[in-house]
Formats: sequence, structure tokens, C-alpha cells
Amino acid sequence: MIPHDPDQPQIDPKRVVLDGRERELFEMIAGSGYVPDEQNFSDFCESLKSGRAWLISGTRGSGKTAFPEALASACNLTMCVVAGRDGLKQEEILYDWDREEQEVWMRENLAIAKGLPASDQPEFLENARRMKWQRQFLILGEVGAAYDFAARAADSEAPPPVLLLDESDKFGASIEDSLLMPLERGLIYIPRYERGFIGISDWPRRPIVITTSNDLRNKLSAPFVSRHVFSSFATPSLEKELEILAARNPDATSGQLALSIKLLDAVRGVAGLEDHPSVRESIDMSSAFARDSVDDLDTRTLRKYFCHFVKSASSQELLRLQEDYLVSLATTFHPIVDTWLGTRDPEWARRWNLSFDPDITI
Ligand SMILES: Nc1ncnc2c1ncn2[C@@H]1O[C@H](COP(=O)(O)OP(=O)(O)OP(=O)(O)O)[C@@H](O)[C@H]1O
Ligand SMILES: [Mg+2]
Repeated sequence: MIPHDPDQPQIDPKRVVLDGRERELFEMIAGSGYVPDEQNFSDFCESLKSGRAWLISGTRGSGKTAFPEALASACNLTMCVVAGRDGLKQEEILYDWDREEQEVWMRENLAIAKGLPASDQPEFLENARRMKWQRQFLILGEVGAAYDFAARAADSEAPPPVLLLDESDKFGASIEDSLLMPLERGLIYIPRYERGFIGISDWPRRPIVITTSNDLRNKLSAPFVSRHVFSSFATPSLEKELEILAARNPDATSGQLALSIKLLDAVRGVAGLEDHPSVRESIDMSSAFARDSVDDLDTRTLRKYFCHFVKSASSQELLRLQEDYLVSLATTFHPIVDTWLGTRDPEWARRWNLSFDPDITI
């Protein structure tokens, strides 16, 4: 669990959206450096309003994990994270009993019972056995902790936590099944537990659950998917990608942004390449260019940065044959990229003789 900052105010995104202030939430998330897609954000608001979990599927590097992180940071919310992997067990994510502590408890009580009159011992031990299933012996996993936190937050009128179920396609059927009840009822039933369950059924008070999937490992079960509102994160347009690069690398110059995005756009267009670089790689490229103050590209410089976006031997081999082509595309005019940059940077507009600003004399 990643706790919120207790010294900073918290914002309840469900409240904001239910009050009709969706734009405000959009701006808050954008203010944290994340560039939300309008349609995806609208889907997210639907999930907040309905109380349903939000399932995001999409290609790698499309911002699935970064969205809940940006939300938690923008609203100062506690975040619980389950990272999907093979062999994940229910007791790791929901709850488990601390058997060692329970044994110690029973041993201590047996010792106490021995000192009591024989007639009092049965009732004393029965009580001790019942108390073995108290909250103090319960170990909560991240999902259990999120639902428990939400119930406690509701008591103090605090916002619910964000629960990120990351890469859920790696969970497997038994974990998906174990999540059906909390996703539907907001509750996790615990056999023998003195209170019977943890969590909260009130929809607006439940954790804000965001589930991501790359659709790679396993197909998610229909009942699991049906408990979510669904969005698909598409690869962003070049304009959107530029927005993301600029937000993630505020120190990069227009030249560095242009070089990195034109270069990766050219790489994506190379026929026969198995694995196309994603937004993750273009952010890395622009930050490397900014860090090393690279403002122009030749084949020698290009080779130095290959490792950031070509990640297999066969792709490296293929792209090495195209170095001159890549350098030329990365350094010549690109109507979408240079127009986008020119509208924000008058110097850039002058460089490419772009005239959409009346103040610019060309
Ligand atoms: N819309 C966006 N706004 C700002 N940054 C973004 C956006 N989309 C992606 N990024 C950045 O791109 C990188 C990759 O994003 P993220 O890790 O969220 O991808 P992902 O979809 O979870 O990928 P994977 O499936 O590989 O886990 C991160 O540095 C993230 O901050
Ligand atoms: Mg991810």
C-alpha cells in the first residue's frame, strides 16, 4: 500500500465527477504530467459514477499503469497495487490468517486456563478459541487492504483508495474468480472471522478499482470482465504523443522533441520490424536527447541511441541497413510534427516558414 500524504488535502474523484466537475478532474490529472485521452477519460468518469471497476486494455507503453498513478498523485489518494504474475495466490491478495500468532495466543491462554478453577476453564478456553479469529490475527493482502481501507475511510468521510489490478491477464482463473465477490458486492467474506467480512457495499464508497490488461497471457473470464466498465487504450496519434513527450520532458527543446518523434515515427514505418517502439520508447528518446543536448542527428549519433528503441538482434540488423533513411526522415520537415511544434514555438514556426500566427513575419 502506498499511503497518501497526510499533510496534504485529499480530493475524492467520485465526488468531483458526481458533482458534474469532470473537467476539473481532467485538469488535475493533466497537471500531474499525464495526458488523458478524452474518450478514455470519459469512460473513466462513467466507471466512477457507476462505482464499477474500470478495465483498460491496450498495447504496452500506452499509459495504462500511469493513469491510476497519475490519479492517485493528483488527488492525494492511497494506492494499493497488485502486479499480475504467474502463481499469484488468493491469500497474497485477499487475506490470510497469522497462524503462528494464533498458536502463540492459544498457548498463552492454555497456560492462563491452567491457573483457573476447573469449572471456569471450559468457558475461558472457548472464548479464547473464538478470539483466535479476530482482526488482529488477519493479514490483509493488497485487495483486502484496499476494501478494508475504503470501509474505514467511509467512517471518517475520507476518499476511498485507488486499487490497481495491474496486468490482470497474468492473474489466472482462480485469482479472477476470487475477485468476483469484492468487485460485485464490495465485500470479502472471511469464514470464521468474527465480523464475517471486510469491505463496504455502498457503491460510491468502494475503492476506485482500475484493472489493466495487455491481453497477452490469458483471456480474462467473462464474469470478471462483466464486472468492469471497459476502455481500450489505442496507440496515440502523433499530436497526442507530442503532447505526452512535452509533458514528460518539459526541458526538451522543440528540436529534441521533433527529432525523437520523427525518428520513432520513421522506425514504426519500417516494413518487417516485429516490435514497434511505443510511447515509452519515445519518452526515453526525447529525455536522452534533452539530457545529452542532442539537436541534430547523423548516423553515428543515431547508432548511440539505437539501444533505446531497438530491442532485438534481428530488428537491430534490419534498422542498421536503414540508418541513412532514418536520419533523413528525422531531420526533414514533417507536416504534423512541425505544425504542432510551430503553433507552440514561434522560433520553430520561423525555422520551417510556417505562417499560422499573424505576429510571425516570414
Ligand atoms: N497519456 C500519457 N501521458 C503521460 N505519460 C504517458 C502517457 N501514456 C504513457 N505515458 C508514459 O509512457 C510510459 C509507459 O506508460 P505505462 O507504464 O503506463 O504503460 P502501460 O500501458 O502500463 O505499458 P505496459 O503494458 O508495458 O505495462 C510511462 O513513462 C508513462 O508515464
Ligand atoms: Mg503497465
